[in-house]
Order: sequence, then structure tokens, then C-alpha cells
Amino acid sequence: MGLEKRTIKIIVAVVVLVLILSLVGLLLGLLLPQRYVELEVWPRSEEYNWDQPLIQVRGNDPGSWHAWYRRLNEFLKVYETSIPEDPPRAPCSVHNRRDQHLRSDPCDIAMRRWAPCTADEFYGYARGKPCIFLRLANIHYWVPEPYNMTSPLPIPPEMPQHIREAMRHRPAHQYGDFVWVSCGGEFSADKENIGPIQYIPADYPPGFPLSRLHTADRIPYSARNMPDQVPGPLIAVHFENPRRGVVINVECRIWTRDIFYDPKSRVGRARFELHVE
Ligand SMILES: *[C@@H]1O[C@H](CO)[C@@H](O)[C@H](O)[C@H]1NC(C)=O
Repeated sequence: MGLEKRTIKIIVAVVVLVLILSLVGLLLGLLLPQRYVELEVWPRSEEYNWDQPLIQVRGNDPGSWHAWYRRLNEFLKVYETSIPEDPPRAPCSVHNRRDQHLRSDPCDIAMRRWAPCTADEFYGYARGKPCIFLRLANIHYWVPEPYNMTSPLPIPPEMPQHIREAMRHRPAHQYGDFVWVSCGGEFSADKENIGPIQYIPADYPPGFPLSRLHTADRIPYSARNMPDQVPGPLIAVHFENPRRGVVINVECRIWTRDIFYDPKSRVGRARFELHVE
């Protein structure tokens, strides 16, 4: 009899423990931010919010853009390296043209490859032709399915021309696969106002090379639930001649077979407002 009582006690204790643990798990799941492949927009202001990040610049007024310049320098610091890479992962941030003697050779090369999205050129803000940096984040549990011309699978008709050309000129079986990127005006007025844009480094395909992504298939299983250990890959978008005096809604997105486009989704998609006065 006594033994039975103890058994019942143990069963009750185990049940209560399991209940508590699942409740804690549920709460953590609700509280922790959801993880999805994120396309981050930089620079960000202090009061950054996803729905309406506004980047406002008056080219001839350093007071209006100097804060963006400083924030980009700050943001790019984690990418600083003296190891040569082809292409360099980021423009070298800390030493601009004035203290060129302090620069390493890889830094000089990085500055050339990422021009005009560099500290040397104040990331274009001084001339009212700003650069925006896009960073791919939360990819450590993702296995992307790239678009390429190597596989016989169809390419969606709405895919922008600049990506098609990059796919044709750099076949995946030779140059590797990319997570492609495009930016454009969100609404029809924005499509007119946005002007020409260039993806930087300009001599490189507009996207993130798969070989550099720390995606789930390339990291140990135990690392998949941890935050990214390395800062995500970058690409810059240079707005060469945005219409002055209007707010331009810009939408950027990545292109892979497994992420479907939805104008309300945040997965692999970013938007911001650009206002050049
Ligand atoms: C091309 O795309 C297909 C489908 O996304 C993928 O399975 C393949 O690994 C890609 N690369 C090459 C070189 O075929």
C-alpha cells in the first residue's frame, strides 16, 4: 500500500513537472522573436521601425547626413579585416581618404571595389545619391534553393532583367550559386521617382554568394539554434539619381525558389522610405 502511494506521488510529480516545462517552453516561444530569413536595411535611425524606416538626406547640408555617415561607419566596423578577400565582404570603414597612410592594402582594394558606397565618398550622402546596405540575417537554420540557369526548372517571368543577365553571364556550375537581390519602387509613382540604381560591388553579381552563407547545410547541427556567429553578408544599393523633394517607397527582396513573394511578408523582404531634399 505504502509503495503504491509513493508511486502515485512520483507520477503526479512527473506530470506536474512536464506541465510546467511545456508552459515555460510555450511562453519562451511566444516571447522570443520569431526567426525568419531577414533582409536588414542599414543605416538605421535610433527610432528604427520595420514598417516605416525613413532615410532623409539634404545633400548640401552635412548636418542632415553626417549622422547616417557615422552610423554606417559604426555598422561596418565588425567587417574590418586585413585578410584579402575576393570580393571584399564590405568597404573598409575606419580610415577614410584623409588618413590613407594608415590603410592596409586589402583596405584600399575594398574601398575601390565598393565605391561609391564607402567612407571616402561619404557613402554618397554628401551628393544626395545615398547608398543603402542590405544584410542577410537569421540564415543559420535555412537551406536556400537558388535560382540558376543550370537546373532545368523554370524561372519566374517577373524576375528582373539584371538578375537574368547575371545568371546568364555567370553560370552557377562555374561561378557558384547566389541568393539574388533586387530593389525597386513600391508603387507606380515610386517606380518613376526612384531613378537608376546600381548594386555594389558593381562588377559582382547582384546577390549573396551561397559559398559565403552560413546556412544550415554548412554549419554543425548544434549551431543551428544559436545566433549567427558571423555578421551576415552585405550588398549595397546605390541610388544614382532619386527624384528630389518626394518620399520614395523602396522595396527590396531576395529571390530563391523556396521563399515566395508576398507584399505583406517580412521574410526575405525589406522596405524603406527615401527622401532626398
Ligand atoms: C541550381 O538550382 C537548383 C534548384 O534550386 C539547385 O538544386 C542546384 O544546386 C543549383 N546549382 C547548380 C550548380 O546546379
